[in-house]
Amino acid sequence: MSNHSEKILFSVPFVAQGTLDNLAAVIADGHVHGDGSFTQSASSKLETITGSSKVLLTTSGTAALEMSVRLLGIGVGDEVIVPSFTFSSGAASIVAAGGVPVFVDIEGDSGNIDPALVEAAITPKTKAISVMHYGGVPVDMDAIMAVSRKHNIPVIEDNAHGLAVNSKYGRLGSIGTVAIQSFHDTKNIHCGEGGAVLINEPALVEAAEIMREKGTNRSKFLRGQVDKYTWVEWGSSFLPSELNAAVLDAQLDEFYSIQKKRFAIWNRYTSELASWAEENSVKLMSPSDGVHAAHVFFVLMANQEKRDALLTHLRESGVFGTFHYVPLHSSPAGKKYGRVHGSMDKTEAFANRLARLPLWPGMSEEQISRVISEVKSFR
Ligand SMILES: Cc1ncc(COP(=O)(O)O)c(C=O)c1O
Repeated sequence: MSNHSEKILFSVPFVAQGTLDNLAAVIADGHVHGDGSFTQSASSKLETITGSSKVLLTTSGTAALEMSVRLLGIGVGDEVIVPSFTFSSGAASIVAAGGVPVFVDIEGDSGNIDPALVEAAITPKTKAISVMHYGGVPVDMDAIMAVSRKHNIPVIEDNAHGLAVNSKYGRLGSIGTVAIQSFHDTKNIHCGEGGAVLINEPALVEAAEIMREKGTNRSKFLRGQVDKYTWVEWGSSFLPSELNAAVLDAQLDEFYSIQKKRFAIWNRYTSELASWAEENSVKLMSPSDGVHAAHVFFVLMANQEKRDALLTHLRESGVFGTFHYVPLHSSPAGKKYGRVHGSMDKTEAFANRLARLPLWPGMSEEQISRVISEVKSFR
């Protein structure tokens, strides 16, 4: 029975079956601070699904970005090339180290940084290139890594959306010098707030362990490699508690069934909205090679007015669709701390035309059908 007064939320965090048992085990064990058995278990599962040789859990994706920037030695006045269409932390993490985000435009279809524009934005001050796989659709990493090698500039891969995506460039998160995941409760798997930094350059592993442990060599001490631990470098409290790791570990156990449910919704939207899109000059998300993470499903309306009208129409019928990132170059902090390289036309058009539909694993067939029919009733 359809219930048209029921609200369909944009995102509802998944609850894994093993959550309460895992939490009870942490309390019973008494090791509640970080780096216990659930941290180890979750990190090694993440190494398996991402193909990264070293995964360190962090308190958030933002913390992982801050660590990445510091690990690459970015400091006062150093520039990092970054898309303007990304989460604020992509730029704020650079500014936190005294660096300057240099915004370049995106590709109009995917929302990903346009690799063809990156090289021209390089100056003697450029210390890193930061990319973000929007919706888990791969950035052309062959092109990015070629620029990286040519200019000897490391790459940060923000893979908050693309956990376990296998692309023709390799598995996302295992390609850049360092990469990050977010386990915020809007992500495909989560622990409320959490993240991970993926170290793909072995020479950075020791520095990363120190940085994550408040700048101390406590990790070495715990492994019996030094007989006491001390403050050795810049660092902060980037280590999550076992409670977060326990929640994440339970989600990792169900990762593939979560993905299956998300893909089923994504595929229904794609097939059942195709004719509506064609008749109304709407562009549905269409990842090249069909590769994505079922993290978002978006439509690109003809212009901002139509996008806003679609979102209002959906909201009035109880369906909570939403826009996404406000371009960082146009934000107050982006203007204050960043610099624009070239045109931002595609970034602005993409951000203004984009609407995302509800997508979470607990959606019923009926709820999915209602989203589809409410979208189709908009002309
Ligand atoms: C692309 C991207 N990177 C990084 C983050 C930051 O992650 P967190 O919320 O875990 O700090 C987010 C937002 O959650 C994001 O969407």
